[in-house]
Amino acid sequence: MERWSGRTALVTGASVGIGHAVAEALAKSGMNVVACARNVGKIEELAKSVGNAPGKIYPIKCDLTQETEILQMFKTIEEKFKHIDVLINNAGLAHPEDLLTGNTEKWKGMIDLNVLGLSICAREALRLMDKDNIDDGHIININSMAGHNIFASMPIIHFYMGTKHMVTALTKALNAELRQKKSKIRVTSLSPGAVQTEFGHNLYAGSSQATAAAAAFAQTFPLLTGKDIADAVLYVVGAPAHVSIHELIIAPTEQPVL
Ligand SMILES: NC(=O)c1ccc[n+]([C@@H]2O[C@H](COP(=O)([O-])OP(=O)(O)OC[C@H]3O[C@@H](n4cnc5c(N)ncnc54)[C@H](OP(=O)(O)O)[C@@H]3O)[C@@H](O)[C@H]2O)c1
Repeated sequence: MERWSGRTALVTGASVGIGHAVAEALAKSGMNVVACARNVGKIEELAKSVGNAPGKIYPIKCDLTQETEILQMFKTIEEKFKHIDVLINNAGLAHPEDLLTGNTEKWKGMIDLNVLGLSICAREALRLMDKDNIDDGHIININSMAGHNIFASMPIIHFYMGTKHMVTALTKALNAELRQKKSKIRVTSLSPGAVQTEFGHNLYAGSSQATAAAAAFAQTFPLLTGKDIADAVLYVVGAPAHVSIHELIIAPTEQPVL
Protein backbone atom coordinates (compact mmCIF):
# COMPACT_ATOMS: atom_id res chain seq x y z
CA MET A 1 0.00 0.00 0.00
CA GLU A 2 3.06 2.32 0.15
CA ARG A 3 2.40 3.91 -3.24
CA TRP A 4 -1.07 5.04 -2.08
CA SER A 5 0.22 6.81 1.02
CA GLY A 6 -0.97 10.45 1.13
CA ARG A 7 -3.32 9.92 -1.81
CA THR A 8 -7.11 10.25 -1.66
CA ALA A 9 -9.88 7.64 -1.54
CA LEU A 10 -13.67 8.02 -1.49
CA VAL A 11 -15.64 5.35 0.37
CA THR A 12 -19.42 5.47 -0.07
CA GLY A 13 -21.72 4.12 2.64
CA ALA A 14 -19.07 4.49 5.35
CA SER A 15 -21.31 5.08 8.39
CA VAL A 16 -21.59 1.38 9.31
CA GLY A 17 -20.79 -2.11 8.03
CA ILE A 18 -18.34 -2.86 5.23
CA GLY A 19 -17.79 0.79 4.23
CA HIS A 20 -16.97 1.76 7.82
CA ALA A 21 -14.33 -1.01 8.05
CA VAL A 22 -12.87 -0.16 4.63
CA ALA A 23 -12.61 3.58 5.43
CA GLU A 24 -10.82 2.75 8.69
CA ALA A 25 -8.40 0.32 6.98
CA LEU A 26 -7.51 2.77 4.18
CA ALA A 27 -6.87 5.61 6.67
CA LYS A 28 -4.68 3.29 8.77
CA SER A 29 -2.79 2.45 5.55
CA GLY A 30 -1.99 6.13 5.03
CA MET A 31 -4.69 7.24 2.58
CA ASN A 32 -6.77 10.36 3.10
CA VAL A 33 -10.31 9.05 3.02
CA VAL A 34 -13.39 11.03 2.06
CA ALA A 35 -16.18 8.98 3.64
CA CYS A 36 -19.84 9.59 2.88
CA ALA A 37 -23.29 8.44 3.96
CA ARG A 38 -26.50 10.05 5.18
CA ASN A 39 -25.72 9.38 8.84
CA VAL A 40 -22.57 11.51 8.89
CA GLY A 41 -22.40 11.55 12.70
CA LYS A 42 -21.16 7.95 12.75
CA ILE A 43 -18.41 8.84 10.26
CA GLU A 44 -17.40 11.81 12.42
CA GLU A 45 -16.97 9.38 15.34
CA LEU A 46 -14.84 7.11 13.12
CA ALA A 47 -12.73 10.10 12.03
CA LYS A 48 -12.01 10.88 15.68
CA SER A 49 -11.21 7.25 16.53
CA VAL A 50 -8.54 7.01 13.80
CA GLY A 51 -7.10 10.40 14.77
CA ASN A 52 -3.57 8.98 15.19
CA ALA A 53 -3.59 7.04 11.90
CA PRO A 54 -1.23 8.17 9.13
CA GLY A 55 -4.23 9.00 6.93
CA LYS A 56 -7.27 11.10 7.88
CA ILE A 57 -11.02 10.60 7.38
CA TYR A 58 -13.08 13.51 5.99
CA PRO A 59 -16.82 12.94 6.56
CA ILE A 60 -19.31 14.19 3.97
CA LYS A 61 -23.09 13.90 4.24
CA CYS A 62 -24.53 12.61 0.99
CA ASP A 63 -27.69 10.80 -0.05
CA LEU A 64 -26.43 8.79 -3.01
CA THR A 65 -29.93 8.39 -4.46
CA GLN A 66 -29.89 12.15 -5.23
CA GLU A 67 -27.69 13.09 -8.20
CA THR A 68 -27.53 16.75 -7.08
CA GLU A 69 -26.04 15.67 -3.73
CA ILE A 70 -23.48 13.42 -5.46
CA LEU A 71 -22.43 16.23 -7.80
CA GLN A 72 -22.13 18.64 -4.84
CA MET A 73 -19.95 16.07 -3.03
CA PHE A 74 -17.60 15.81 -6.03
CA LYS A 75 -17.47 19.63 -6.25
CA THR A 76 -16.33 19.70 -2.61
CA ILE A 77 -13.79 16.94 -3.33
CA GLU A 78 -12.46 18.84 -6.34
CA GLU A 79 -12.05 22.04 -4.31
CA LYS A 80 -10.32 20.32 -1.38
CA PHE A 81 -8.42 17.38 -2.94
CA LYS A 82 -8.52 18.11 -6.72
CA HIS A 83 -9.36 14.45 -7.46
CA ILE A 84 -9.68 11.03 -5.86
CA ASP A 85 -7.28 8.20 -6.67
CA VAL A 86 -9.36 5.30 -5.32
CA LEU A 87 -13.15 4.94 -5.28
CA ILE A 88 -14.82 2.28 -3.14
CA ASN A 89 -18.38 2.13 -4.46
CA ASN A 90 -19.81 0.37 -1.41
CA ALA A 91 -23.21 1.87 -0.50
CA GLY A 92 -26.02 -0.53 -1.32
CA LEU A 93 -29.21 -1.95 0.09
CA ALA A 94 -31.87 -4.62 -0.39
CA HIS A 95 -35.60 -4.29 0.16
CA PRO A 96 -37.63 -7.50 0.61
CA GLU A 97 -39.57 -7.15 -2.66
CA ASP A 98 -39.94 -10.18 -4.90
CA LEU A 99 -40.79 -10.09 -8.60
CA LEU A 100 -44.38 -11.32 -8.35
CA THR A 101 -45.63 -8.85 -5.73
CA GLY A 102 -42.84 -6.29 -5.22
CA ASN A 103 -43.43 -2.57 -4.70
CA THR A 104 -42.31 -0.41 -7.64
CA GLU A 105 -41.03 2.46 -5.47
CA LYS A 106 -38.85 0.02 -3.48
CA TRP A 107 -37.51 -1.43 -6.75
CA LYS A 108 -36.68 2.12 -7.90
CA GLY A 109 -34.94 2.79 -4.58
CA MET A 110 -32.62 -0.21 -5.13
CA ILE A 111 -31.83 0.90 -8.69
CA ASP A 112 -31.22 4.50 -7.60
CA LEU A 113 -28.61 3.46 -5.01
CA ASN A 114 -27.12 0.13 -6.18
CA VAL A 115 -26.93 1.01 -9.89
CA LEU A 116 -27.30 4.75 -10.58
CA GLY A 117 -25.49 6.06 -7.46
CA LEU A 118 -22.61 3.67 -8.16
CA SER A 119 -22.44 4.64 -11.85
CA ILE A 120 -22.60 8.40 -11.21
CA CYS A 121 -19.81 8.14 -8.59
CA ALA A 122 -17.65 6.14 -11.04
CA ARG A 123 -18.25 8.66 -13.85
CA GLU A 124 -17.45 11.65 -11.65
CA ALA A 125 -14.38 9.99 -10.12
CA LEU A 126 -13.04 9.20 -13.61
CA ARG A 127 -13.77 12.77 -14.78
CA LEU A 128 -11.59 14.18 -11.97
CA MET A 129 -8.85 11.58 -12.57
CA ASP A 130 -8.84 12.45 -16.26
CA LYS A 131 -8.65 16.20 -15.53
CA ASP A 132 -5.51 15.68 -13.39
CA ASN A 133 -3.96 12.98 -15.64
CA ILE A 134 -4.28 10.29 -12.96
CA ASP A 135 -3.67 7.06 -14.87
CA ASP A 136 -3.20 4.60 -12.01
CA GLY A 137 -6.52 5.10 -10.23
CA HIS A 138 -8.69 2.23 -8.98
CA ILE A 139 -12.44 1.73 -8.66
CA ILE A 140 -13.81 -1.12 -6.55
CA ASN A 141 -17.51 -1.89 -6.87
CA ILE A 142 -18.75 -3.79 -3.83
CA ASN A 143 -20.91 -6.34 -5.58
CA SER A 144 -22.25 -9.60 -4.04
CA MET A 145 -22.40 -13.33 -4.63
CA ALA A 146 -25.98 -12.37 -5.53
CA GLY A 147 -24.49 -10.59 -8.54
CA HIS A 148 -23.41 -13.95 -9.98
CA ASN A 149 -26.09 -16.44 -8.90
CA ILE A 150 -29.87 -16.63 -8.54
CA PHE A 151 -30.80 -17.82 -5.05
CA ALA A 152 -34.17 -19.34 -5.94
CA SER A 153 -34.88 -20.11 -2.28
CA MET A 154 -34.73 -16.37 -1.44
CA PRO A 155 -37.30 -14.67 -3.71
CA ILE A 156 -37.47 -11.59 -1.46
CA ILE A 157 -34.03 -10.57 -2.74
CA HIS A 158 -34.60 -11.42 -6.41
CA PHE A 159 -34.86 -7.75 -7.46
CA TYR A 160 -31.75 -6.93 -5.39
CA MET A 161 -29.97 -9.80 -7.20
CA GLY A 162 -30.92 -8.14 -10.48
CA THR A 163 -29.27 -4.88 -9.39
CA LYS A 164 -26.12 -6.75 -8.36
CA HIS A 165 -26.03 -8.68 -11.68
CA MET A 166 -26.04 -5.22 -13.24
CA VAL A 167 -23.01 -4.30 -11.11
CA THR A 168 -21.23 -7.36 -12.58
CA ALA A 169 -22.05 -6.21 -16.11
CA LEU A 170 -21.20 -2.55 -15.46
CA THR A 171 -17.81 -3.45 -13.96
CA LYS A 172 -16.88 -5.53 -17.02
CA ALA A 173 -18.14 -2.83 -19.38
CA LEU A 174 -16.27 -0.04 -17.58
CA ASN A 175 -13.05 -2.08 -17.75
CA ALA A 176 -13.66 -2.50 -21.48
CA GLU A 177 -14.20 1.27 -22.02
CA LEU A 178 -11.02 2.09 -20.09
CA ARG A 179 -8.96 -0.50 -22.02
CA GLN A 180 -10.26 0.97 -25.30
CA LYS A 181 -9.00 4.37 -24.11
CA LYS A 182 -5.59 2.76 -23.31
CA SER A 183 -6.13 3.84 -19.69
CA LYS A 184 -4.33 2.01 -16.88
CA ILE A 185 -7.11 2.70 -14.37
CA ARG A 186 -8.28 -0.57 -12.80
CA VAL A 187 -11.87 -1.61 -12.01
CA THR A 188 -12.69 -4.49 -9.67
CA SER A 189 -15.93 -6.20 -8.70
CA LEU A 190 -15.54 -7.48 -5.13
CA SER A 191 -18.33 -9.92 -4.32
CA PRO A 192 -18.89 -10.94 -0.70
CA GLY A 193 -21.09 -13.72 0.57
CA ALA A 194 -22.82 -13.12 3.90
CA VAL A 195 -21.18 -10.41 6.02
CA GLN A 196 -22.15 -9.52 9.59
CA THR A 197 -23.37 -5.92 9.18
CA GLU A 198 -26.66 -4.00 9.46
CA PHE A 199 -27.61 -5.20 5.96
CA GLY A 200 -29.76 -8.15 7.17
CA HIS A 201 -31.52 -6.01 9.77
CA ASN A 202 -32.20 -3.27 7.21
CA LEU A 203 -33.54 -5.85 4.75
CA TYR A 204 -36.40 -6.56 7.12
CA ALA A 205 -36.68 -2.98 8.48
CA GLY A 206 -40.25 -2.12 9.35
CA SER A 207 -41.15 -5.78 9.69
CA SER A 208 -41.74 -7.44 13.05
CA GLN A 209 -39.39 -10.22 11.93
CA ALA A 210 -36.42 -7.83 11.64
CA THR A 211 -34.38 -8.60 14.72
CA ALA A 212 -35.29 -12.29 14.87
CA ALA A 213 -34.53 -12.84 11.18
CA ALA A 214 -31.17 -11.05 11.39
CA ALA A 215 -30.23 -12.98 14.55
CA ALA A 216 -31.24 -16.33 13.03
CA PHE A 217 -29.21 -15.55 9.91
CA ALA A 218 -26.15 -14.62 11.98
CA GLN A 219 -26.28 -17.95 13.83
CA THR A 220 -26.46 -20.15 10.72
CA PHE A 221 -22.68 -20.28 10.29
CA PRO A 222 -19.75 -17.94 11.06
CA LEU A 223 -20.25 -14.93 8.80
CA LEU A 224 -17.60 -12.73 7.23
CA THR A 225 -16.79 -9.48 9.05
CA GLY A 226 -16.33 -5.98 7.67
CA LYS A 227 -12.63 -6.38 8.42
CA ASP A 228 -12.46 -9.48 6.18
CA ILE A 229 -13.73 -7.35 3.30
CA ALA A 230 -11.44 -4.43 4.23
CA ASP A 231 -8.45 -6.83 4.13
CA ALA A 232 -9.56 -7.93 0.64
CA VAL A 233 -9.80 -4.28 -0.46
CA LEU A 234 -6.22 -3.66 0.74
CA TYR A 235 -5.07 -6.73 -1.23
CA VAL A 236 -6.87 -5.65 -4.42
CA VAL A 237 -5.80 -1.97 -4.25
CA GLY A 238 -2.31 -2.88 -3.06
CA ALA A 239 -1.60 -5.28 -5.95
CA PRO A 240 1.18 -4.02 -8.24
CA ALA A 241 -0.01 -1.51 -10.87
CA HIS A 242 0.32 -4.07 -13.70
CA VAL A 243 -2.00 -6.54 -11.87
CA SER A 244 -5.74 -5.96 -12.34
CA ILE A 245 -8.10 -8.13 -10.29
CA HIS A 246 -11.36 -8.00 -12.20
CA GLU A 247 -13.44 -10.16 -9.87
CA LEU A 248 -12.98 -11.43 -6.33
CA ILE A 249 -15.65 -13.61 -4.69
CA ILE A 250 -15.28 -14.10 -0.92
CA ALA A 251 -17.67 -16.32 1.04
CA PRO A 252 -17.89 -17.63 4.58
CA THR A 253 -16.36 -21.11 4.42
CA GLU A 254 -19.58 -22.80 5.55
CA GLN A 255 -21.95 -20.77 3.34
CA PRO A 256 -23.80 -23.21 1.07
CA VAL A 257 -22.94 -22.88 -2.62
CA LEU A 258 -26.30 -22.47 -4.38
N1 LIG B 1 -23.78 -7.74 4.39
C1 LIG B 1 -23.79 -8.66 3.45
O1 LIG B 1 -24.07 -9.84 3.72
C2 LIG B 1 -23.44 -8.29 2.03
C3 LIG B 1 -23.17 -9.34 1.15
C4 LIG B 1 -22.84 -9.04 -0.17
C5 LIG B 1 -22.76 -7.73 -0.58
N2 LIG B 1 -23.03 -6.72 0.29
C6 LIG B 1 -22.94 -5.35 -0.21
O2 LIG B 1 -22.02 -4.63 0.58
C7 LIG B 1 -22.33 -3.24 0.53
C8 LIG B 1 -22.35 -2.68 1.95
O3 LIG B 1 -23.34 -3.36 2.68
P1 LIG B 1 -23.26 -3.58 4.26
O4 LIG B 1 -23.44 -5.02 4.49
O5 LIG B 1 -22.12 -2.88 4.86
O6 LIG B 1 -24.64 -2.87 4.66
P2 LIG B 1 -25.04 -1.87 5.84
O7 LIG B 1 -24.38 -2.28 7.12
O8 LIG B 1 -26.52 -1.78 5.79
O9 LIG B 1 -24.39 -0.48 5.36
C9 LIG B 1 -24.88 0.17 4.20
C10 LIG B 1 -24.20 1.52 4.05
O10 LIG B 1 -24.76 2.16 2.89
C11 LIG B 1 -25.17 3.48 3.28
N3 LIG B 1 -26.33 3.93 2.52
C12 LIG B 1 -27.55 3.33 2.41
N4 LIG B 1 -28.36 4.11 1.68
C13 LIG B 1 -27.65 5.23 1.34
C14 LIG B 1 -27.94 6.41 0.62
N5 LIG B 1 -29.16 6.62 0.08
N6 LIG B 1 -26.98 7.33 0.48
C15 LIG B 1 -25.75 7.16 1.04
N7 LIG B 1 -25.41 6.05 1.72
C16 LIG B 1 -26.36 5.11 1.87
C17 LIG B 1 -25.51 3.38 4.76
O11 LIG B 1 -25.35 4.66 5.37
P3 LIG B 1 -26.56 5.64 5.81
O12 LIG B 1 -27.74 4.78 6.14
O13 LIG B 1 -25.96 6.37 6.99
O14 LIG B 1 -26.77 6.52 4.64
C18 LIG B 1 -24.42 2.43 5.23
O15 LIG B 1 -23.23 3.16 5.52
C19 LIG B 1 -23.66 -3.13 -0.21
O16 LIG B 1 -23.42 -2.74 -1.55
C20 LIG B 1 -24.21 -4.55 -0.16
O17 LIG B 1 -25.06 -4.82 -1.26
C21 LIG B 1 -23.36 -6.97 1.59
